[in-house]
Amino acid sequence: MEIRRSTAPLQLLCVTFLHLSGIVLVIGEQPSPLTPAMFIFGDSLIDNGNNNYIPSMAKANYFPYGIDLGLPTGRFCNGLTVVDYGARLLGLPLIPPYWSPTSKGENILRGVNYASAAAGIIDETGRHYGGRTTFNGQILLFEKTVNLELPPFFQTPEALSQYLAKSIFVINIGGNDYINNYLLPNMYTTSRIYNGEAFADLLVSVLSQQLKNLYRLGARKMVLVGVGPLGCIPSQLSKVNSSDGCVRTVNNLVILYNDRLVRLLNTLNASLPGSFFVYQNIYDTFTDMTNKPFNYGFTIPNEACCGNGRYGGAVSCLPLQKPCLNRSQYIFWDSFHPTQAANKIIATRCYAKSATDCHPISVYQLAQI
Ligand SMILES: *[C@@H]1O[C@H](CO)[C@@H](O)[C@H](O)[C@H]1NC(C)=O
Ligand SMILES: *[C@@H]1O[C@H](CO)[C@@H](O)[C@H](O)[C@H]1NC(C)=O
Ligand SMILES: *[C@@H]1O[C@H](CO)[C@@H](O)[C@H](O)[C@H]1NC(C)=O
Repeated sequence: MEIRRSTAPLQLLCVTFLHLSGIVLVIGEQPSPLTPAMFIFGDSLIDNGNNNYIPSMAKANYFPYGIDLGLPTGRFCNGLTVVDYGARLLGLPLIPPYWSPTSKGENILRGVNYASAAAGIIDETGRHYGGRTTFNGQILLFEKTVNLELPPFFQTPEALSQYLAKSIFVINIGGNDYINNYLLPNMYTTSRIYNGEAFADLLVSVLSQQLKNLYRLGARKMVLVGVGPLGCIPSQLSKVNSSDGCVRTVNNLVILYNDRLVRLLNTLNASLPGSFFVYQNIYDTFTDMTNKPFNYGFTIPNEACCGNGRYGGAVSCLPLQKPCLNRSQYIFWDSFHPTQAANKIIATRCYAKSATDCHPISVYQLAQI
């Protein structure tokens, strides 16, 4: 990798700032990352502040979000997300959100996070929240990064291509196409047009084109996160009386999608030269955590730490609401999102050297190829 260094050596750039309300926190510094950069695409599970800058109702810029970071950052969590822990496991600093005013110049050399709460594979997904950057929109922003913002730091186009080819691309998208589209028949028509199989086919065919676009822009090492067991999250549990602790019909829809996603990744991996696709089986990670919470130090597997109504899932965490006392005992922080404690486990089971839930290899191994 040839990076043109004008003033500061790269080491000095590996300091991440959490930026909000004029407060700047220096989070950490890492000497030797396993990969030059991480580019992140997705939804609220990994949005780290982008929606703060977008006219959207999907925001987490208020207390008690961020309570374990000391301030709300826009993360939909009490603390850090899976990609925050993932970056740390690869020796990277926290990756800055695209829309942050500080994501400029050399600050983007370790990667950019484009994820936006309420976003989906399909453009219409999440539109009832107002503004959001859809996955297609996020790819357009990445195109801008590649064509305009990164080139000044590389001596040749080949050097930039090599940097991109060695970088890790994480794509965590698709959950909203169910909970904020298909499963809301009063607001979206998809469930009247498509049965479960046809909808999963549609999502995967749109996603296929999107991944090819990322490849065309230079992405090679791509980590695709499956959709978790949405039938087990507090917001779904609050809507029905289920006997086995999860809404089976919802989980069955997700399984149809994940099966097709795995097949798509195998196809793309074989047909796009130099690509390497890794599948993060978050469905199994979550199922294991909810079935055997005590193995992970959790005592409350199905209730939101900050939420209202049945399972804390009817209305999600409201501004200034008092959350549960011991957050590390809960898998769910709010009606939709895991706690920092759960995120740390999810990340370890995919990014660590011998992780079990990423296939065919861990992200740690992917970074070293
Ligand atoms: C669940 O069951 C309880 C009691 O059996 C009932 O009061 C409640 O309305 C039910 N809720 C739903 C969403 O069906
Ligand atoms: C994907 O392709 C790479 C070669 O680029 C290969 O080493 C790897 O095993 C393939 N992955 C799968 C799941 O087939
Ligand atoms: C909080 O939960 C963790 C994990 O279950 C436990 O180790 C700890 O003792 C608990 N703390 C309190 C104050 O209950």
